[in-house]
Amino acid sequence: MKAIAAEIMAGGPIPFARFMELALYHPIHGYYMRMGSDDGARHLGGDGDFYTSSDVHAVFGRLVVRQLRQIDELLGHPTPLTLIEMGPGKGALARDMLQCCETDPELISRLRYLLIERSPAMRAAQQRTLDRWAPIPGLVSWAESLESLPSESLRGVFLSNELLDAFPVHRVRIVEGTARELAVDYQEGRFVERALPLTNQALRSYLDRLRDMDITLAEGQTADINLLSLAWMREVARVLAQGIVLTIDYGHTAQDLFGPERRNGTLLGYRQQMLSEDPYQDVGLQDLTAHVDFTAVATAGDEAGLAVTGFTNQMSFLMSLGVEQEMEGLEPGSREFQSIIQLLRPEGMGRTFKVLIQHKGLPCPTLEGLRFKPFFGSALAPSQAMGNGREAIGRALPSSPLPIAHSLSPRMS
Ligand SMILES: C[S@@+](CC[C@H](N)C(=O)[O-])C[C@H]1O[C@@H](n2cnc3c(N)ncnc32)[C@H](O)[C@@H]1O
Repeated sequence: MKAIAAEIMAGGPIPFARFMELALYHPIHGYYMRMGSDDGARHLGGDGDFYTSSDVHAVFGRLVVRQLRQIDELLGHPTPLTLIEMGPGKGALARDMLQCCETDPELISRLRYLLIERSPAMRAAQQRTLDRWAPIPGLVSWAESLESLPSESLRGVFLSNELLDAFPVHRVRIVEGTARELAVDYQEGRFVERALPLTNQALRSYLDRLRDMDITLAEGQTADINLLSLAWMREVARVLAQGIVLTIDYGHTAQDLFGPERRNGTLLGYRQQMLSEDPYQDVGLQDLTAHVDFTAVATAGDEAGLAVTGFTNQMSFLMSLGVEQEMEGLEPGSREFQSIIQLLRPEGMGRTFKVLIQHKGLPCPTLEGLRFKPFFGSALAPSQAMGNGREAIGRALPSSPLPIAHSLSPRMS
């Protein structure tokens, strides 16, 4: 992308996080900024570059509503009950949740669904998806940024699905025993990587925290570090007065994310259902994404006043909320059944996708979505030992080996 090359030529190599910021969010050429344009929105979804849980089956949104109802009850059925969804993509999850909520006139009459989206093009795509609810005063609205919301203004639920993995990451590599930051240079018409001395204090503090948890990066290892996810968590804590934060994304505890199996980090590109390990190809045309460090996110939240309610994986979350009932009566060979299985597969979305739930302004609730746990939950309570955070599936799926669903690949590996 010429704009990135021009910035490097004018000022020298830029941190990888700046490169990723421009590749995804340059106002004109960034991947997500072009996305909602006439042909752009098709990049998301079953026939696009990647798909998310809400693209797989509406049962995902329906089960999140089941959890929302319990939270509504815990909050004493407030008016309004505010649901903020940040990073809503094409708006498929919002559509499925609104469709489910409107079967209950009392609930929908109190619901305020606020979507936070930084890309004007994506906002336009969401408005198209949700246009049927536009005439209902106050039901659906948009904000451009979390920062624009007043402190302690939310009483309800703060929801995101695959938001944090779309934040630009810094890349750190251990070279001859020293941590260096990967920067991007431009030479002879190509982007090239440079491992520069680490001067960013926030990255240093992050690495210090890893060391405090006995996590040591090996020689040659690359770590993708999402500093923005920590700032985001602090902002969520600022905005929430009383309620629940529900964060769904692919990721791991710090012990797993920075362990020896992920020596090269987790940064990947996605274009037309193909994975790429080269972030410098098709810049602005391929999605770039990295797995989330849920230990760091939960710790940042805890420090800002968000207590960890629980941490589980998508399979356990959906099973806790009654996904099996949703599958009753479906033919195992049917496409619908297979799609729901896709959300649950332990070797796929079911296990790599995690659900972090935090609360503020209320006693620690016993949530339905966390019934099938604790799934390494204690590893995320910052006051407790971090050393037992290795992934372990708390429960297996009830039936026989899971059939392979369709050939598409979600954004994870
Ligand atoms: C991977 S997509 C998520 C799609 C959607 N949640 C789903 O489940 O299909 C990431 C979304 O987050 C948005 N986004 C990224 N950073 C954001 C920010 N700082 N504020 C608001 N939206 C953001 C992107 O524009 C995009 O819509």
